Amino acid sequence: MCGIVAYVGSKDAAPILLEGLQRLEYRGYDSAGLAIVNKTLRTRKVKGRVADLAAAVPARFKGGVGIGHTRWATHGVPSDVNAHPHVDGAERVAVVHNGIIENADELRAKLTVDGATFTSETDSEVLAHLIARTVKDTDSLEEAVRTALKRVVGTYGIAVLDAERPGEVVVARNGSPIVLGIGEKEMFAASDVAALVRYTRQVVHLEDGELATIKADGFHTFTMDATETAKEPLTVDWDAGHYDTGGYEHYLLKEISEQPETVARTLRGRVDDRFHIAHLGGLNLTPHETRAFRRVKIIGCGSAYYSGQIGAQLVEELARIPADAEPASEFRYRNPVVEHDTLYVAISQSGETYDTLAAVQELKRKGGRVLGIVNTVGSAIARECDGGIYLHAGPEVSVASTKAFTSTAVAFALLALHFGRVHDLSPADGRRICEGLRRLPAQIEEILAKDDEIAGLARKYADHAGMMFIGRVRGYPVAREGAQKLKEISYVHAEAYPASELKHGPLALIGPDMPTVAIVPDDELLDKNLTTLGEIRARGGRVLMVGHRAADPRLADDCVVVPKNETELDPILLTIPLQLLAYHAAVALDRDVDKPRNLAKSVTVE
Ligand code: F6R
Repeated sequence: MCGIVAYVGSKDAAPILLEGLQRLEYRGYDSAGLAIVNKTLRTRKVKGRVADLAAAVPARFKGGVGIGHTRWATHGVPSDVNAHPHVDGAERVAVVHNGIIENADELRAKLTVDGATFTSETDSEVLAHLIARTVKDTDSLEEAVRTALKRVVGTYGIAVLDAERPGEVVVARNGSPIVLGIGEKEMFAASDVAALVRYTRQVVHLEDGELATIKADGFHTFTMDATETAKEPLTVDWDAGHYDTGGYEHYLLKEISEQPETVARTLRGRVDDRFHIAHLGGLNLTPHETRAFRRVKIIGCGSAYYSGQIGAQLVEELARIPADAEPASEFRYRNPVVEHDTLYVAISQSGETYDTLAAVQELKRKGGRVLGIVNTVGSAIARECDGGIYLHAGPEVSVASTKAFTSTAVAFALLALHFGRVHDLSPADGRRICEGLRRLPAQIEEILAKDDEIAGLARKYADHAGMMFIGRVRGYPVAREGAQKLKEISYVHAEAYPASELKHGPLALIGPDMPTVAIVPDDELLDKNLTTLGEIRARGGRVLMVGHRAADPRLADDCVVVPKNETELDPILLTIPLQLLAYHAAVALDRDVDKPRNLAKSVTVE
């Protein structure tokens, strides 16, 4: 998704902006650009990669204030002209914008009547013209930005440069993140801390409806009616090294391989061996309040939603509280009934996904109590929730989510243990789960050691036009996540079905050309799953089984055996071979593994 970087200081802005934009590449984009002020406004923008932009920037592109952008097309095709920054006709004001201006057509028509000439097809260009109109009269960029934004309907994170005021950049946020970075006699702003960590770890997140002016010697923040706001800087835990590939060929493989450590980090300090409970300091719930909830409703998008399905299963099994998960993108639009005795849990790796954020806001507006299970500290969703659990999985750079998925499932196991021990989960079962959680990192290592074996299977299965993924009950969200990983990074069509539903329709697809990946844990449903494998084999279907014991060759062509944990926790481990399978299939098919086509890392638009 689009990315913003801004700099004000005594150094040359262009290399800093280009470096920042490179750090945002992982989010997905199709064009890039930057603007600096050196007496006049100078811009460069290109369709393509940040490296193409760097090549197009002349060596004499000097100036200590600038803004940069990576664009992910929404209004208008990817092109040099549609790339940001956009400037007004007099080339005084430059703007970079993330988000969508909903009344852009109406504003464009009015501005055109007023004499503005538009050069791009974007909604964002109206901002440059609107701000330029006011800045002439007010001689205050802040005021011009506030005045312009009052006419705008939609979402935005913006950074604005005025050629006549070369010592400052004004930024504003409404639905699309902006974070300030505090340096030594220099200031930064960006849409993602990833762009800042090389320069500073002291950051300030803007709230929706908030603006800031950054200058070399500091910043101040204010609201749309010019009221000053007080902000406390946060220290970011991650440094620039977390954003490197660390010697791996792809971020995705690095992030899959980090899971023993990331799962250990999610667990650290949270498992209590004395009472066999979980310590979750951020929940902000008393035991009395915890007991009062009659339901748990989980929301998230994509893989976050599938990890929520694992979470719902864990909450029901360990706490015996009814729980279910739903895509946040659907939930927010269906005027949901919000109950006072339901606990809502929002999941997000980025903490920025607009649909999830909007669902949380809808819940809060209706008086719902919302916990966040979020990876990115200080992100919009984390701040919007009443309490929650941070994953501490470190930055996830590859577009496809892996380590955040497993850490979310682990966080749910902790939450379910916490609820369970407040309700009726016995100390013995509490101990069993605590011990199982502690075994996870070493067992993940064991699965990662099967990398070569899984790579061989991926090469064997990757050249099929489609694959079926099946699982029953605990195995079903695992199958959904496996199909999601395969389709998004290898572009092989993959469908996930509950194994029990196969004979109610999709069995018609089964044959030699449609292999099935079957999740077959050693649980009370093992015999049912084996029967389903028999049905597939009877129709000539090929089967790759992922489970806890070697497969009967009459029922499966291939098998990946994973270590057994406690039955409730097994889905976490069963997911990992599917991540590797998708990764190696994508490599075998020569895909852009970390930046799959059409996708962005965090989806900050509706
Ligand atoms: C899949 C994937 C997406 C995200 C989804 C939610 O691999 O990465 O499906 O899980 O867009 O993103 P977050 O968790 O950032 O809210």
